[in-house]
Amino acid sequence: MALSDTQTGSGNNGNETDKVEAGRDPSTGENADNVLSVRGITVGFGSKTVLQDLDLDVRRGEVLGFVGGSGTGKSVLMRTILGLTPKRAGTISVFGHDLSTATPKERRAIERRWGVLFQQGALFSSLTVKQNIQVPMREHLKLSPQLMDELATLKLELVGLPQDAADKFPSELSGGMVKRASLARALALDPDLVFLDEPTSGLDPIGAAAFDSLIANLSSTLGLTVYMVTHDLDSLHSICNRIAVLGKKRVLAIGTLDDMMQNDDPWIKSYFRGERALRRA
Ligand SMILES: Nc1ncnc2c1ncn2[C@@H]1O[C@H](COP(=O)(O)OP(=O)(O)O)[C@@H](O)[C@H]1O
Ligand SMILES: [Mg+2]
Repeated sequence: MALSDTQTGSGNNGNETDKVEAGRDPSTGENADNVLSVRGITVGFGSKTVLQDLDLDVRRGEVLGFVGGSGTGKSVLMRTILGLTPKRAGTISVFGHDLSTATPKERRAIERRWGVLFQQGALFSSLTVKQNIQVPMREHLKLSPQLMDELATLKLELVGLPQDAADKFPSELSGGMVKRASLARALALDPDLVFLDEPTSGLDPIGAAAFDSLIANLSSTLGLTVYMVTHDLDSLHSICNRIAVLGKKRVLAIGTLDDMMQNDDPWIKSYFRGERALRRA
């Protein structure tokens, strides 16, 4: 809502003020529509620029699918948002806070509200599933071992893993179970936002579909916002509210699947309407 709308007349009663301020959380100034806003991001390595002047908004509660050719910078963008890869320009706001001006304390509070599943699964191989899930709890919370065990049990249940998976090591699990365990760890702190980098890659179609419906369920029941890098057309069709396409170092297009089907950019056209897409139908 335009700022001027909030300034119309000084005689507003309380209700009216509530209404015009509905887009913002008064305590933080957070925009209720976007949990993540990226503006003018440029990232490079040496003489190579991977992302240039990139803008992106992720809306509260949506499942956003992020696609793009291999090596276009999908993982780099995610890592940049997370603060793991340095940027050369631009701003990143999460939950209404500009990450570059956040104090270390604010930054930790923000990190506590997001969960991450990296492309390579990234479970610690020397820790059991339960210990892996408890890593973020140890990092951010002071809880008794008993409470942490109870929470880990709940997270296993949430992602559909049997309780006997708790004491197994990652090497003892199937690919699908590793993905679920990684998701359980990403959900350890009850985040508002999860970043998933190709969560269904390496899974068979049935495993991938089961993982997709798990994500869709979590998103609708927990109100979770999902940022999901994927190349899985089935995921894009079945669970994503919107799709963003990375190309030419920026977000080439963002919108619904229908929007993508009507887009005439050659890459987008071949991706969504090419042979592979048609085979799927
Ligand atoms: N740490 C790094 N140092 C140098 N180049 C990198 C680094 N990380 C990624 N790149 C390069 O950035 C480009 C984008 O990589 P990436 O984001 O992993 O692609 P994808 O879209 O497949 O996830 C690639 O050309 C990759 O080689
Ligand atoms: Mg990648």
